[in-house]
Amino acid sequence: MTDSLFDELTIRGTTIPNRVMVSPMCQYSSTDGLATDWHLVHLGSRAVGGAGVVMTEATAVEPRGRISPQDLGIWTSEQADALAPTAAFIRSQGSVPAIQLAHAGRKASTRRPWEGGGPIAPADGGWDVVGPGDEPWPYDGEDADVPRLRAMTTADIDDVIDAFASAAERALAAGFEIPEVHAAHGYLIHEFLSPVTNDREDEYGGSFENRTRLLREVTAAVRAVWPDDKPVFVRISATDWLPDRDSWDLEQSIRLAPMLGEVGADLIDVSAGGIHPDQRLPGTGPGYQIPYAEAIKAETDLAVGAVGGITTPEQADQLVRNGRADLAIVGREHLRDPYFTLHAAGALDADVEWPVQYRRATD
Ligand SMILES: Cc1cc2nc3c(=O)[nH]c(=O)nc-3n(C[C@H](O)[C@H](O)[C@H](O)COP(=O)(O)O)c2cc1C
Repeated sequence: MTDSLFDELTIRGTTIPNRVMVSPMCQYSSTDGLATDWHLVHLGSRAVGGAGVVMTEATAVEPRGRISPQDLGIWTSEQADALAPTAAFIRSQGSVPAIQLAHAGRKASTRRPWEGGGPIAPADGGWDVVGPGDEPWPYDGEDADVPRLRAMTTADIDDVIDAFASAAERALAAGFEIPEVHAAHGYLIHEFLSPVTNDREDEYGGSFENRTRLLREVTAAVRAVWPDDKPVFVRISATDWLPDRDSWDLEQSIRLAPMLGEVGADLIDVSAGGIHPDQRLPGTGPGYQIPYAEAIKAETDLAVGAVGGITTPEQADQLVRNGRADLAIVGREHLRDPYFTLHAAGALDADVEWPVQYRRATD
């Protein structure tokens, strides 16, 4: 029988009640990486709204890996403790709590969007950043020299792999059921994958095998500390959208998929872009990245999530029914409507209960 948006999805021993996931979205609302009431209410509301998986924003595995000073972090157990009530609340609503583990690489140390974006120098509260090479993100004008970028040594790489594993251990202790390795959007792991940013001559650069090594090692390290009966997700950018350059593309993403399965990933969350400002998007209309998810799904046994421009119940449902992806990952529409899934159930005539506290509104 064909799956639909309101069928469960069981991966390993974890059953997701429906096929909607809240896409990871930075809130830039932490101090010292600590979750606040904002995170509890923001993520908690989307669990009340019925999403099958509620995923946190990019959560930094080390302070240097924050996009902005206000990013969420999980490099200390105090930070994990601050996240635990949010994970527990999500679970109490029947949703699966998930956490995106992240390192921003050369795109770290920037101002949050509503403070103008752009890099912050160490003297102004920023920090020096690291990446596979020493070519910084091409900031404009007077911003061009900050923050300073240093190419990672193999010892730095070992430390980052350990940081992902320790972050996953803390996430498990905090009550999360799914960790997602963030390997997309031009952040650290993507910077290693893409020839646009990786000009290393050691075992982490050059060949496809070498450029994918960091992601494979991070995924294996997360899987090693994660229980066998719980899934691990990986988010990738399927393409750099730089077809005229030696860059990361869909063909390499398809080749990568089974290799991620071999190191213990269960679902590939398929996004795109972010490696360089010269990228040329083919458009951002409805479902603009779904064809990448579909192409990867056709070539792998792993589960696949599609994200990008999914805004309506019908679109999300058809994506699953037509076998293009296993999970409909919804970002901005969840900012507009925390109850997307409950509204979708109404629109699609699916039998889903509203929270008992709200039942009188549905009588
Ligand atoms: C406010 C905001 C914050 C975001 N933060 C993250 C993030 O932390 N990690 C990530 O992988 N993607 C992030 N994204 C990208 C979204 O997860 C999603 O992939 C993108 O918005 C496309 O999906 P949509 O069209 O459903 O919004 C962010 C997007 C928005 C709008």
